Amino acid sequence: MTARDIAPATGKLGVLTPGMGAVASTFIAGVLAARQEGAAPLGSVSQMAHIRLGTREDGRNPLIKDFAPLASLDDIVFGGWDPISANALEAARTCGVLEEKDLAPISSEMEGIVAMEAVFDQKWVSRLDGTRVKSETNMWDQAMALMADIENFRTENECDRLVMVWCGSTEAYQEASEVHATIDAFEAGLKANDENISPSQIYVYAALQSGVPFANGAPNLSTDLPCMMQLSERNGVPIAGKDFKTGQTLMKTLIAPGLKARMLGLRGWYSTNILGNRDGEVLDAPENFKTKEESKLGVLHKILEPEVYPDLYGNIDHVVRINYYPPRGDNKEGWDAIDIFGWMGYPMQIKIDFLCRDSILAAPIVLDLALFMDLAHRAGESGVQEWLSFYLKAPQSAVDGVPAEQDLFIQQTKLKNTLREWMGEPAVTHSEAG
Ligand SMILES: NC(=O)c1ccc[n+]([C@@H]2O[C@H](COP(=O)([O-])OP(=O)(O)OC[C@H]3O[C@@H](n4cnc5c(N)ncnc54)[C@H](O)[C@@H]3O)[C@@H](O)[C@H]2O)c1
Repeated sequence: MTARDIAPATGKLGVLTPGMGAVASTFIAGVLAARQEGAAPLGSVSQMAHIRLGTREDGRNPLIKDFAPLASLDDIVFGGWDPISANALEAARTCGVLEEKDLAPISSEMEGIVAMEAVFDQKWVSRLDGTRVKSETNMWDQAMALMADIENFRTENECDRLVMVWCGSTEAYQEASEVHATIDAFEAGLKANDENISPSQIYVYAALQSGVPFANGAPNLSTDLPCMMQLSERNGVPIAGKDFKTGQTLMKTLIAPGLKARMLGLRGWYSTNILGNRDGEVLDAPENFKTKEESKLGVLHKILEPEVYPDLYGNIDHVVRINYYPPRGDNKEGWDAIDIFGWMGYPMQIKIDFLCRDSILAAPIVLDLALFMDLAHRAGESGVQEWLSFYLKAPQSAVDGVPAEQDLFIQQTKLKNTLREWMGEPAVTHSEAG
């Protein structure tokens, strides 16, 4: 197999996050701790996972980061925008994910990561009152202002390359409309301040026009719009979305493939969460929860394929709830009541009580998406990077009419085989032969 011609990861990589809240500040803190104190980047597949090459007998099993030419953690520079947080340290202290003892050694560096003024409109996030907001009122001017920010950041920090990962709030529910159909329609909409264009879409436009890959960590409609897919192809820039796969949905995509692998039936799955951070507060608004609900509900259907297995999965009640409960802060509690059935139709139950930490699970995903999106760009990729579905709750499909894979284990195989292919190694199929 011939390896792809991948440009080397020389120089600095700027990682820009629209949104400098719990997830972004926890991500930044973890990378700074890893490079200052050698703390292991736990949960990061790009940094900690090995990849088998060749047959089992070959004994070749390097770390992914030693196999694929990824940017080094030492070469990352951080930046971002936020309508509330002034800098990464303030964001970290406000959300309360990390303890002061962990922030102390990196506090001056965190404080130096100042959030740029955001393109923000409260219409899309009713629970937030942003004050650090750009003065431009026309959307086209806002896009130009973001592009100027991107170029200033690139120059001031002497970055060779940039990537953007949306870590901003979940916007109100929206469906695609005519303004999203083509690049021309979207640009005309920006100039006319079209009410169907949300702030996150303006960031995607600015990124893609600046040659910056964009990954969407929230369930907002942004990279999954026809105009953005066209723009990413036209400008030769990769995109990926959407919604970081953490917490309850991570559990769901671990368990559902297992039930299906053993042909056990599912009658119902009731999921409820209590969450007390700013994300929970935003999602307390019904129009914002609807965006999240859509992204969470799709998972089971795509994994279980009721149309192929009507006897097992043709009649499922799937309910997802999120309740804002301030005492828990970022430490979410997710309960799942799962009603399954087996041989001769006998019912069984599974209960899960996952006391997780949302941003601790999301932070390594931001790192991996940033590094892999940068790799994809250097490998000459554009359009949807479906091989990164592994990290996403509602993965965007690269093929019209064919949904993206939702099963975490198939997604993992796809990710690793994509890396093997790019590096000129044969795919590992785990068949008896190999
Ligand atoms: N933590 C997780 O496990 C997880 C999982 C999946 C998705 N997400 C999504 O990731 C996003 C970030 O989560 P979080 O816990 O950090 O939330 P957060 O509320 O702590 O941070 C979001 C930040 O985005 C800012 N923001 C809002 N609108 C903006 C705009 N237009 N431009 C720039 N910044 C803007 C807010 O001021 C806030 O500081 C949310 O959309 C959340 O739904 C999080």
